[in-house]
Amino acid sequence: MSALVTLNNGLKMPLVGLGCWKIPNKVCAEQVYDAIKLGYRLFDGATDYGNEVEVGQGIRRAIDEKIVTRADLFVVSKLWNSFHHPEHVKINVKRNLKDLGLDYLDLYYIHFPIAFKYVPIEEKYPPGFYSGVKEEAQGIIGTENVSLADTYHAMEALVDEGLIKSIGISNYNGGLVQDVLNYCKIKPVALQIEHHPYLTQPHLTEFCKLHQIQVVAYSSFGPQSYVELKSDVALETVPLFEHPTVKKIAVAHGSNITTSQVLLRWATQQGVAIIPKSSKKERLVANLKIDEALTLTDDELRQINDLNKNLRFNDPWDWMNMKFPIFA
Ligand SMILES: NC(=O)c1ccc[n+]([C@@H]2O[C@H](COP(=O)([O-])OP(=O)(O)OC[C@H]3O[C@@H](n4cnc5c(N)ncnc54)[C@H](OP(=O)(O)O)[C@@H]3O)[C@@H](O)[C@H]2O)c1
Repeated sequence: MSALVTLNNGLKMPLVGLGCWKIPNKVCAEQVYDAIKLGYRLFDGATDYGNEVEVGQGIRRAIDEKIVTRADLFVVSKLWNSFHHPEHVKINVKRNLKDLGLDYLDLYYIHFPIAFKYVPIEEKYPPGFYSGVKEEAQGIIGTENVSLADTYHAMEALVDEGLIKSIGISNYNGGLVQDVLNYCKIKPVALQIEHHPYLTQPHLTEFCKLHQIQVVAYSSFGPQSYVELKSDVALETVPLFEHPTVKKIAVAHGSNITTSQVLLRWATQQGVAIIPKSSKKERLVANLKIDEALTLTDDELRQINDLNKNLRFNDPWDWMNMKFPIFA
């Protein structure tokens, strides 16, 4: 099992979890169940991933077979952008919990710092990026007149009601994190951001450390996850698995060490939690046991940090026709 980190609310969170984005519905329940058997305890899901029913089935099977109890697991979901209005936040989490078959979440993130136009669950769930067919054709995002502070306070009410144990924020920059700290009654425990050697975000991670907010890396393998989305930026970039510096460091640690392990260890060794997604058993095992596999030297950490190009792959402006500059 993964090492645990203590969050600023006292909860213990596994440093390594399984990312659930793009796990196909057909195989998702089986993969989550297998991952639990392999030792995974954290599952990073979201409204938008459209597979929470299956994630829940995998969890239920493992609990029914007494492989784990609910308390052994750390289940994560994310509020989707269309549910930011305080009246809709609870509607979203109730649906997450119903789909997962659970009565609480360990961590609930605000997925993106942008309020989309509300789409009722009966109309379309998950709603996705567009509020209608016409909007999608034109790449227009319908927005809702809701501030992030109002959404955050509605998340705090979920903690008070016992529906979620902790609040997270995702895809926030430093200014937005500071703003949350100004208005929150309950501090966010984690910030989930894109984080890999092409996008190291050293100032943001240092700032979070100062404020006891755990940084959780997504897309630790950089372009890999976006190649299948046919993102031009990802397709044009040297895969991190094949980067000469990463390859050289992997070789220096022995013939059984892979470049993927170097990339993950680079994050965990700097105190960043990871949630790599894989559909292959041997990769799941290798990703989970990363801390036992190798320790990088300070010089190797520096060499990997030097690969930074502030290159972001998860910008929907690039990989879908979404004309909203979330990160600009
Ligand atoms: N908050 C957000 O906005 C946000 C955005 C993106 C992602 N996320 C979360 O972060 C999780 C991880 O990010 P991600 O899914 O984008 O990408 P990722 O974990 O960086 O990469 C997944 C890709 O890497 C491959 N892979 C996994 N382990 C490997 C290994 N040991 N060696 C070689 N290839 C390996 C997988 O292929 P196989 O499946 O074939 O092994 C898959 O193609 C997501 O699942 C999601 O939970 C959050």
